[in-house]
Parts: sequence; C-alpha cells; structure tokens
Amino acid sequence: MTAGSEGRWARIVAVIVALVVAVMIYSGLHWTAVAPSKVETIDASTLHLSGEFMEANLGTSIQPDRSAVVRMIAQQYAFVPRCIVVPADTPVTFRVTSPDVVHGFLIVGTNVNTMVVPGYVAEVRTRFDRTGEHVMPCHEYCSVGHEGMWAHVKVLDRLEFERVHGNQGRASCAG
Ligand code: CUA
Repeated sequence: MTAGSEGRWARIVAVIVALVVAVMIYSGLHWTAVAPSKVETIDASTLHLSGEFMEANLGTSIQPDRSAVVRMIAQQYAFVPRCIVVPADTPVTFRVTSPDVVHGFLIVGTNVNTMVVPGYVAEVRTRFDRTGEHVMPCHEYCSVGHEGMWAHVKVLDRLEFERVHGNQGRASCAG
C-alpha cells in the first residue's frame, strides 16, 4: 500500500466516523424534540394479579362507541392471547405491556410496529380494511425463545365477529 492510499483510507474512515456521530446526535435530538406524546407506566410485577392486564381482561373488547380495544401481554416467549380476533372496518386500539423484558410488537402488512417495554403500556391504533389473517412475530430479541415468539391476528367481517364473539366480554381465537 502506498502512503497516498493509506491517507485516502484514513480520510474515508474519518468521514464514516463523522457520519455515525452525526446520525447519533441527530436521532438523540430528534427523539428529545418529538418525545412520545403519552407515556403510560404500569407496575410490571403485578400485571397478572390486578388491574387492566389481568388474565380475564385480555383479548378484544368492543367499546360503547363500537371501536375495539385489544389488551395483550408480551412475555417470554408468547403473546397472551396467542391469537387475536378483531372486526374489519373498525378502529382498533392495541394496548400491550410486558412483565419481563423488552419485546417487539409487529403485525405484518399493517402500520403496527412498536416496542413493548416492561413498566410501560404500548398503545397503537390501527384499522383493518380487509378480512384475513396476519402474523405477529416478536421482532425484538428477548433471549433464547425469541425465534418461537409468534402470534396471529384474525380479521373477521364485522357481522361475523358479532355473530361469533358478540356475547364474549373479551374475545380471542386462542384455545
Ligand atoms: Cu419476545 Cu422476542
């Protein structure tokens, strides 16, 4: 290698380092400036025992305004419920939390994509225009069982949803 090419490589490396630092500073400032509008905390150690995320409260519930709220727990190594059912053409709010470590919450083919952090409630709003099935993998490495952490979302026609699940307080297709 000649002295000239070494100098060129040194400059290239310097430029790359400068870019990485610039991206770090930019994203740091960005997330400070546009902090999530609503931060909701929750006691991760008592999730199963009381309050909103008790087992009997998990699943899909239809609100008085006809929208749907889906409550879910992401834990090592499953989502509870494992199979979510929602009506199509309906505003859907997902509320998800974790009792253990950080998990990822992603519904393939939709805008739903967030992290689930213990101690916080992740809330995502969406709407499914078409009936069908979506897969819901955990996309945040959460230790040895991560690869097997999957769930499903079934989108039913509104009338079918009401016929099959209308009289359940908390609907799911698991089990
Ligand atoms: Cu849970 Cu990866």
